[in-house]
Amino acid sequence: MTMGSGENITSILHEDRKFPPTAEFTAQANISSEAQYQEMWQRAKDDPAGFWGELANANLDWFKPYDKVFEGVMPNTKWFTGGTLNAAYNCLDRHLTTWRKNKAAIIWEGEPGETRVLTYQDLHREVCKFANVLKQLGVQTGDRVTIYMPLVPELAIAMLACARIGAAHSIIFGGFSAEAVADRNNDAKARVVITADGGWRRGKEVPLKKAVDESLAKSPTVEKVVVLKRVGWPVSMVPDRDYWWHDLMQDASSDCDPVEVDSEHPLFILYTSGSTGKPKGVMHTTAGYLLGTMMTSKWVFDLKEEDTYWCTADIGWITGHSYVTYGPLLNGATVMMYEGAPNWPDEGRFWEIIEKYKVSIFYTAPTAIRAFMKWGDQWPNKFDLSSLRLLGSVGEPINPEAWMWYHRVIGLERCPIVDTWWQTETGAIMMSPLPGITPTKPGSCTRPLPGVVPDIVSKSGQSLPDNAGGLLVMRQSWPSMLRTLYGDHDRFLSTYFGEIEGLYFAGDGARRDTDGYYWIMGRVDDVLNVAGHRLSTMEVESALVSHPSVAEAAVVGFPHEIKGEGIACFVTLRTGDGNDSLKQTLIAHVRKTIGALATPDVIKFTAALPKTRSGKIMRRLLRDIAAGREQAGDTSTLEDLSVLAKLRESDE
Ligand code: PRX
Repeated sequence: MTMGSGENITSILHEDRKFPPTAEFTAQANISSEAQYQEMWQRAKDDPAGFWGELANANLDWFKPYDKVFEGVMPNTKWFTGGTLNAAYNCLDRHLTTWRKNKAAIIWEGEPGETRVLTYQDLHREVCKFANVLKQLGVQTGDRVTIYMPLVPELAIAMLACARIGAAHSIIFGGFSAEAVADRNNDAKARVVITADGGWRRGKEVPLKKAVDESLAKSPTVEKVVVLKRVGWPVSMVPDRDYWWHDLMQDASSDCDPVEVDSEHPLFILYTSGSTGKPKGVMHTTAGYLLGTMMTSKWVFDLKEEDTYWCTADIGWITGHSYVTYGPLLNGATVMMYEGAPNWPDEGRFWEIIEKYKVSIFYTAPTAIRAFMKWGDQWPNKFDLSSLRLLGSVGEPINPEAWMWYHRVIGLERCPIVDTWWQTETGAIMMSPLPGITPTKPGSCTRPLPGVVPDIVSKSGQSLPDNAGGLLVMRQSWPSMLRTLYGDHDRFLSTYFGEIEGLYFAGDGARRDTDGYYWIMGRVDDVLNVAGHRLSTMEVESALVSHPSVAEAAVVGFPHEIKGEGIACFVTLRTGDGNDSLKQTLIAHVRKTIGALATPDVIKFTAALPKTRSGKIMRRLLRDIAAGREQAGDTSTLEDLSVLAKLRESDE
């Protein structure tokens, strides 16, 4: 998809198939009639205070009721002002006075195969103990704590313990490098880091503590480190700085009152890529985020007490924050967690887990679905998947072919598929089918949820008619919206509200069809979506130019069969022509600087990059070359046409 020189975006996808939910699903669904949806959506649009106020009263436990449902206009909206509550209390304590006390909150399987089950009562006890550990280490309400862990129950325990004492967690996905951890520690001014000796991934240990040690040489604000023993290999422990999780927990009390925080108290920071080299610290606050994740879990996943719900995302991403931890636990659901890779020890692992634990709701990413397709139907076909009743997809546009495979081979043609569109910044799902009522169309995230008022506009902010591709914007504030970028409110305002006056814009192109269904066409900024993970082209470029042999680099995405987008790097060297060994060196350098998720797929050495007369790199042309496309666009502003010819020649 490209944003052409005109006002609109040209859409090439055409898809007419429609799949209505089965009558059985509809009969038991949390939202079960079109009229109910229409009524909710209209009410939320016309009377947001009434709509969200009633939901907040009915679904959250408050220490002190709020005075106002919301104040101010977007982007400076505050939700549930005057109220106080606690996120961990809402996820845990309130279930303990019900029969859910002994219900499984987390069923966890490690990659090597061990299983642990924590009931709500168990999870509550561990969270209280760890909250006391944090206090003992000097963490106070309002501090920031970095969490850099494998996907183990202690990750959820650590985040809820932070929430219990009102400290904001900043979770960094375990695939990021030491340098990325240091940058994030510094930006958030984190005082404590919680990590593990390592984690398991495809049979190998991921050396997390080692990365933390490297990062701490550059993170002056960090005073203490807590280390969970997960893989059991040797790590160095610095006296008076590093402590073992099990030592600290041994004597910790399991009594810990939840701290009463304001509705707008920061709950967490989560770093995500923007269109510059510096990641953005997206900040979410307490009440609005909790309400958003709780309601969307109920509506979109149709959560029921009996479900075994599995979202395969790592908690290090927003999907894991909202739909592994907060959303399902607020609803008192049973959450499945699996630590490792889908193809370990073989390609049947996910399906084996579904059969073994009778998973009923399964939420994953298109990049994973495309990998499953490639591995072949024989893997899922070996297992009994009849416990599944609903499937979900998130993170990137799902191509109709992958959608149909998911529907046929995993959903056995009877499970509704919810293709959920949202972002780190939106906190909760914004557009998605409601599984009991919405006829789905492969590749469309269908319609906005109640409280979400999207539109498609031109670059100058004019509403566009149906079927015209344009920029996806939000016209109305919603409770789980990000409140700022940590430490940089100006960047928050210019990134999301600077593009189109008064509207929220976070970088996607889309179109709406004549049924009112939305079709996401991809990012229109310099953000890549690689295997469902956001990465800025500038981040990869700055990693490349930080290598002494590189003079200049331009990074673009290209269509990739499994990952959605691959990373192509065009590199000019300070001296010499480049060779395979330098390619490998540069790939390793990018992995070290950002992390394995940023591994370049293609590196092309070139004597010069195509630039305009004003010196701007013409990425559009590089995108065509990387995708192996004919040059479609205008090249008249190119300074030196021979550069393009040379790049094409080097392709052959
Ligand atoms: O481009 C959209 C894409 O992922 C971006 C958000 O990335 P992130 O903040 O990392 O959050 C991912 C998980 C919520 C969006 O701007 N995206 C996400 N979901 C979809 C999607 N694109 C198409 N369809 C989706 N369902």
